[in-house]
Amino acid sequence: MTVQRPVKLAPSILTADWSHLADQIQAAEAGGAELIHLDVMDGMFVPNITFGPTVVAAVRKVTSLPLDVHLMIQEPDRYLADFVAAGANQITVHVEACLHLNRTVQRINELGCTVGVALNPATALEAIREILPFIDCVLVMSVNPGFGGQQFIETTTSKLRRVRRLQEEFNPTCDLQVDGGINEKNVNDVVRSGANLIVVGSSVYNDQASPAENLAKLRQAIAI
Ligand code: DX5
Ligand code: ZN
Repeated sequence: MTVQRPVKLAPSILTADWSHLADQIQAAEAGGAELIHLDVMDGMFVPNITFGPTVVAAVRKVTSLPLDVHLMIQEPDRYLADFVAAGANQITVHVEACLHLNRTVQRINELGCTVGVALNPATALEAIREILPFIDCVLVMSVNPGFGGQQFIETTTSKLRRVRRLQEEFNPTCDLQVDGGINEKNVNDVVRSGANLIVVGSSVYNDQASPAENLAKLRQAIAI
């Protein structure tokens, strides 16, 4: 069964101007963003530190868009309740960071959020085979997590197609998210390869154009 899922753009605030964060988020919302993607990093699972639940709660106050919280942290179970209390709508954990992934997924569900499971570029898709029926979204990383503005890893399009085939077999309504290095040149390819939730960081927040102009260019590229 092939299920058509709407394509949604999810700006990541990682490369936004943090001295005007509320304005930056509202500019993306006014430009038609469908989700706000929040990259939480602990300096252990990835070699960078960003922010925790306090910032998620601050973002919650300035937008009505769903908050898509991407946890790049070890043993994320320790903080799930805090991110839910802060206003997360979807929580994504990494398969590489969870010893008892099924338990973690159940816990996120019990807390009332939808659940994503992320795969690093070098992680084989078989790692999500058993959890697939229980989740709402698979996140395929198209860069090594840790930093914004990196180059898209070209083999991701083939991986997306393979994950989508697996989803069609075991969970056809599951979203397929792609994250890292997405721009006007490759966004069409990742959508054609089955991705429907598209994380966009430096191609939305940059000094070339406004978030609304950049989102419009991405939408145009998808429509071609
Ligand atoms: C990488 C993050 C991504 C990334 C997106 O670790 O998960 O969300 O920052 O930024 P760009 O689109 O610039 O790669
Ligand atoms: Zn992310």
